[in-house]
Amino acid sequence: MSSHAQEIIAALDAVQPAAIGNEVERLQVRTAVRRLLARVETPYERAWGFCFEHPVVFAALQTCINLGLWTSWTRVGGGEKSLDELVQLTSPPVDPNLLRRFFRLLAAFNVVEETAEDRFKPTPFSSAIGDESTKVRASLQAATYQYLATGHNLPVYLAKTSYQEPTDMDLNNHTDTDPDGLNFFGRLQKTPAYREAFTGHMEAWTAWKTPWTTVYDTTELLNGAQLDASPFVVDIGGNTGIDISHVLAQHPDLPAGSLVLQDLPEVIATSQFDKRITAMVHDFFLPQPVKGSRAYFLHAVLHDWPDDKATQLLVNTKDAMVKGYSKLLIYDIVLPPTRASLSQTTMDVQMMSLLAASERTQEAWETLLSQAGLKILRFWPDPQEYEMVIEAEVA
Ligand SMILES: C[S@@+](CC[C@H](N)C(=O)[O-])C[C@H]1O[C@@H](n2cnc3c(N)ncnc32)[C@H](O)[C@@H]1O
Repeated sequence: MSSHAQEIIAALDAVQPAAIGNEVERLQVRTAVRRLLARVETPYERAWGFCFEHPVVFAALQTCINLGLWTSWTRVGGGEKSLDELVQLTSPPVDPNLLRRFFRLLAAFNVVEETAEDRFKPTPFSSAIGDESTKVRASLQAATYQYLATGHNLPVYLAKTSYQEPTDMDLNNHTDTDPDGLNFFGRLQKTPAYREAFTGHMEAWTAWKTPWTTVYDTTELLNGAQLDASPFVVDIGGNTGIDISHVLAQHPDLPAGSLVLQDLPEVIATSQFDKRITAMVHDFFLPQPVKGSRAYFLHAVLHDWPDDKATQLLVNTKDAMVKGYSKLLIYDIVLPPTRASLSQTTMDVQMMSLLAASERTQEAWETLLSQAGLKILRFWPDPQEYEMVIEAEVA
């Protein structure tokens, strides 16, 4: 190998995440590494990745999930293992040569590390799959349940519908893919395993993002809040409570009843909440029962719905708000006019594929909110450049 190639490889291998300044810079380095790969790979190598590598790598990951291998390996403390020791960790038992073939592939893809013939060490990624608290396993499982099949069906569905942008929540790519014709949330309500996987994926995704309370100053919001009469924050579609817990962490001494979380019955029934959070079943397409809160918060909720449904949800919220007092805080992607990131554009097209919905530009947000009788006061960008807190009030 030429010394120049060796120097390049040594420089790239020396890059360590711990040495990169902060989370924002780490993400910038990650984007640069992806650009690098796009330059270095030939077109055929790039196609090979999509058409040949990804399907079997995913199949290997999911099979090892089904065998309970990642969980057992992490539970026994990780560490280097022989192939035979790994076989012992599986249930049901696996043919050793089957596992060997998967592990060779996973080592070549840097999911595990091959230390010698038939000997493997976990990586932070494989350990995280086995650690339920990370929700990485749930995220992969959600792909098996819903994201892969819908992604596969999308080109077929778009051809069937003459390449019109999908906007119908009840007749779309998901309903076309689902065996019972259910929409995305309909399937989650019907099948607990799907819901558990998606809820976990949501938690992992929300935990990856910048906490909204560091983007928007809730202390300012507390000034002038009348908490004897009404709540401080109502988190609508709040899932298992990560966002409302950020408020609790900032303001642990709020009076009882100040923090409200609303979601569907299945989510509320299966989640554990701090006793200072009032968890409430509420369908956000029905009138908002909690009136006059200082703030109503919607994180990654409106992007799930096409404009007609999003408007209905917003009008229900506006009708509960007190003009001049209540704030609506939406934490969602605001697509920039150019150079939207891979995370933002992936989310946008996943919304098309799963829900006939979309991410929105600043102009689209302004139109949506004004049609619901609301006006935007300010956009507060997060430092990751992924989402913004959109601060609005009754017009
Ligand atoms: C994309 S998740 C966002 C969850 C959370 N806000 C976050 O950012 O982590 C959408 C949430 O809306 C909830 N949801 C869906 N349909 C709903 C409805 N009709 N009424 C109330 N909540 C609903 C889901 O259960 C889910 O928790």
